[in-house]
Amino acid sequence: MNILVTGGLGYIGSHTCVKLIEAGYTPIIIDNLYNSKKSVLKRIEKITGQLPLFYYGDIQDKPFLDTIFKKHSISSVIHFAGLKAVGESVTKPLEYYENNVYGSICLAQVMRDNQVNNIIFSSSATVYGEKNATPYIETMQTGNVTNPYGWSKYMVEQIYVDLHTSQPTWSISLLRYFNPVGAHPSGLMGEDPQGIPNNLMPYIAQVAIGKREKLSVYGNDYPTKDGTGVRDYIHVEDLAKGHVAALNNINQSGVHIYNLGAGIGNSVLEVLAAYEKACHKKLPYQIVNRRAGDIAAFWADASKAQRELNWQTECSLDDMAKDSWNWQITNPNGYPDE
Ligand code: NAD
Ligand code: WQD
Repeated sequence: MNILVTGGLGYIGSHTCVKLIEAGYTPIIIDNLYNSKKSVLKRIEKITGQLPLFYYGDIQDKPFLDTIFKKHSISSVIHFAGLKAVGESVTKPLEYYENNVYGSICLAQVMRDNQVNNIIFSSSATVYGEKNATPYIETMQTGNVTNPYGWSKYMVEQIYVDLHTSQPTWSISLLRYFNPVGAHPSGLMGEDPQGIPNNLMPYIAQVAIGKREKLSVYGNDYPTKDGTGVRDYIHVEDLAKGHVAALNNINQSGVHIYNLGAGIGNSVLEVLAAYEKACHKKLPYQIVNRRAGDIAAFWADASKAQRELNWQTECSLDDMAKDSWNWQITNPNGYPDE
């Protein structure tokens, strides 16, 4: 069964393609290589023994998308393609809305025109905004988001809900990821941030490998267990399996919303301690001011995915740190250019 995977060479998309192949699906990847490298394909082949079909192009290019839908019989789409840097979205809102919102509209239009009505969309816990109490439950009202990136996810969710209302045969899964970290246990695939990492674990990884001097911990005066921010970290392997679980359920039309998280919160200092254990050394850090827009603590109520998809996380924070470090140490400069 052919599954079109937009953004399939990116961090979460590449891990999901491996899980799709292992589950007997055939991923067909579209990516514009804005934040990924073509050499990821060879890594997928090395792990699975199969080289996925890859089309270089942009989801905003409707004629390009149309040729792919005409050429292949596609049963469902998993839509990862998007820009994801929260801080950058504040300085480049138009680029974020164009890529993430307009791109998602183009994709859905071409799907509709080709009678493909099953889509799984990469949404984010960020849509719960800053007013909801934790843990977040799918039935909570979304909104009050603090940045254009988050609004772009909120808007695409709404657009896809409206699409389903207009044509109820659609099956739309909105997967709200919490904080994906870690890497493939083989060390062949992982997160490959360009420039200074925005997120906690990739930053710690670069401190551990000696590329950055020390971690800046953004505040230790939050009302949390040790004063530092608390998040729900989910191993990218578990997250990838969540997509296969969602795909196995895709034949029911409707809008299906799931939190994909571990259901527990860990503090910045706990993540740092897990990483120190993985790399067998003490890592330098300093406490600095809070980061603008950060929330003190949130994690998922992940019971709906467990109930309805028979999916739950299996990896611990130690597994996440161990696999991240294994990827970092074996690929200190990330993926090769070719
Ligand atoms: P990523 O940047 O590693 O992967 C995204 C991929 O999409 C990249 O390979 C990029 O080149 C490609 N892409 C971007 N715009 C495109 C376009 N217009 N046309 C074709 N390809 C395009 O990011 P990721 O961490 O794998 O995230 C995947 C999805 O999950 C994104 O939509 C992201 O917003 C969402 N998400 C990520 C996180 C996270 O923390 N990583 C959390 C919640 C949601
Ligand atoms: C985690 C914790 C920081 C870096 C972001 C997006 C979210 C989602 C995942 C896409 C916080 C602290 C971080 C550092 C630190 N992405 N921190 N020093 O902000 O929870 O979520 O990525 O959808 O939408 O907002 O993740 O990894 O940046 O931060 O102390 O150098 O680590 O303050 O408490 P965040 P993060």
